[in-house]
Amino acid sequence: MLLEEKLEEKLEVILSIEPHVSQFITDKMQAPETSWQPSDFLPDFSDPNFPDAVIALQKGIANVPDTVLVSLIGNMITEEALPSYQTFFNLLEGVNEDRNVSSKSAWVKWSRLWTAEENRHGDLLNKYLYLSGRVDMKSVEKSIQRLIYNGINLKTDADPYQGIVYTSFQERATKISHVNTGKLAHKSGDTVLGKICSTIAGEEALHERAYKFFMSKILEVDPNGGISAFLAMMKKKIVMPASLMDFGTTNNFYTSYATITQKIGVYTSYDYASIIDHLVKYWGIDSMLGLNDEGKKAQDFLSTLSDKYYRLAERMQEPEETQLIWLNT
Ligand SMILES: [Fe+2]
Ligand SMILES: [Fe+2]
Repeated sequence: MLLEEKLEEKLEVILSIEPHVSQFITDKMQAPETSWQPSDFLPDFSDPNFPDAVIALQKGIANVPDTVLVSLIGNMITEEALPSYQTFFNLLEGVNEDRNVSSKSAWVKWSRLWTAEENRHGDLLNKYLYLSGRVDMKSVEKSIQRLIYNGINLKTDADPYQGIVYTSFQERATKISHVNTGKLAHKSGDTVLGKICSTIAGEEALHERAYKFFMSKILEVDPNGGISAFLAMMKKKIVMPASLMDFGTTNNFYTSYATITQKIGVYTSYDYASIIDHLVKYWGIDSMLGLNDEGKKAQDFLSTLSDKYYRLAERMQEPEETQLIWLNT
């Protein structure tokens, strides 16, 4: 729980930012009727040429390496744990004071629009991978159920500031991951999968933009509180949302998935450093003025933090052994 007096202040700040959230929704978010849907990218069962379309899909994905496929499946499983993300966001202090999922409040509306868009990512990847014939669907489905069963622990407490720092970071991380997967798919001859990944990445980019914008408003209104929350999240480190997928089982799938994404360059420790670098620059942390002692300490720490992570990334050994999971043998 947050300290009582800080909580009061944060609730006021979150409330004061609502008009900006509303504006972002009006300006940038599409209605379901005009946005793309998974079926736009998939063979149509009602089409007499459906079998040929599936054969073409399977030919397209045939040369995508197993490691890229495992990484993509891990990304899909992460997307499919969507109920946890909407729950997480609505539990942040100040977001859903009405305790009502259909609330008209801009924050709650944002949480719905964000996750409604995200829902299509898991849908599309799941169906595409199913049709590929290369995936052990039952094993994947167990991982999805297990991940939702276990939930997420993003270490933000119920602090809306930390929650928004987390989502700014994570949406950018997811964008990078989908962009890189798309490039690898394209290189291996699957142009449809390449297009799917870049389309999804485009939405992650929009969500990243939203969260970074919301956080910049927090930093404007409450610079000391905002920078302290950024510092707190960086010290705790950003945990990937799928990290609990094995808890309660004897599997080691998460480690295999994370090792493979690092090895094939889909999401690496270098990316982790680059995201910190980007956020520090984007929020103008170096040039923030009028900070109290705690805020200045946070500023000093954050200003050089990406350098530390870049050095760590350089020293990191390439993982040699990788274990292929979730695939048909
Ligand atoms: Fe997504
Ligand atoms: Fe996302």
